[in-house]
Amino acid sequence: MRIGVLGTGVAGQTLGSKLVSLGHDVMMGARAADNEKVLAFAQRTGGRAGNFRDAIAHGELIINGTRGDGSIAAIRQGADHLSGKTLIDVSNPLDFSRGFPPLLSVSNSDSLGEMIQREFPDARVVKSLNTVNAAIMIDPAKLPGAHSVFVSGNDAAAKGETMDLLRSFGWQSIIDLGDITTARGVEQYVSLWVRLMGALGTPEFNVAVVKA
Ligand SMILES: NC(=O)c1ccc[n+]([C@@H]2O[C@H](COP(=O)([O-])OP(=O)(O)OC[C@H]3O[C@@H](n4cnc5c(N)ncnc54)[C@H](OP(=O)(O)O)[C@@H]3O)[C@@H](O)[C@H]2O)c1
Repeated sequence: MRIGVLGTGVAGQTLGSKLVSLGHDVMMGARAADNEKVLAFAQRTGGRAGNFRDAIAHGELIINGTRGDGSIAAIRQGADHLSGKTLIDVSNPLDFSRGFPPLLSVSNSDSLGEMIQREFPDARVVKSLNTVNAAIMIDPAKLPGAHSVFVSGNDAAAKGETMDLLRSFGWQSIIDLGDITTARGVEQYVSLWVRLMGALGTPEFNVAVVKA
């Protein structure tokens, strides 16, 4: 499948590399097509390099792995190529302006996932994977036992497509939380995630949801 990965940080690099290894035709996008990280990605993996617009145009499916406060600007670069496409949003609305731990720039009655869906109504936004470290995103078997990942979105087919991709990474416990407003829950969970990382001394952990 042709996939556009927006973002050159750890999340974009990890997801992009995994997707290439699974046989997908991946283009990574940055603000500038000659960004050194995007060129290094292409050289290292055999994937393609471009700017955000190129990556959105390339992908049948798009993954947003950009910094939360830049996500809407990044996606806007290719807005006219988004129509009908599934956009998996792994970003978090983190605000480091007052240091660490970060605040959330949006919460309670709204979320970044909803902001992206409102801004780009022709895209089928699915919030997912933002609750785990990049290494766990693409290799849940790094952690022992069953543990959970979530999907939030308005479009059932887009969530199905996302769940298929998650299964191809090895995810078994995938919880469909409901429409895109449920992104509020997974984004606000990141406040706990940051404290857990401090307490556990590693970013490589996850939660398992169990029920009676
Ligand atoms: N790292 C993880 O393990 C992890 C786990 C879960 C969720 N996430 C989320 O995934 C996203 C990416 O995280 P990351 O750690 O990989 O890297 P990051 O440093 O948060 O983001 C890097 C990307 O954001 C873009 N960017 C930065 N400022 C921008 C702006 N003003 N306008 C447009 N784009 C801008 C950069 O563009 P250029 O390439 O042009 O510099 C780069 O592609 C974040 O939202 C993060 O919360 C990360």
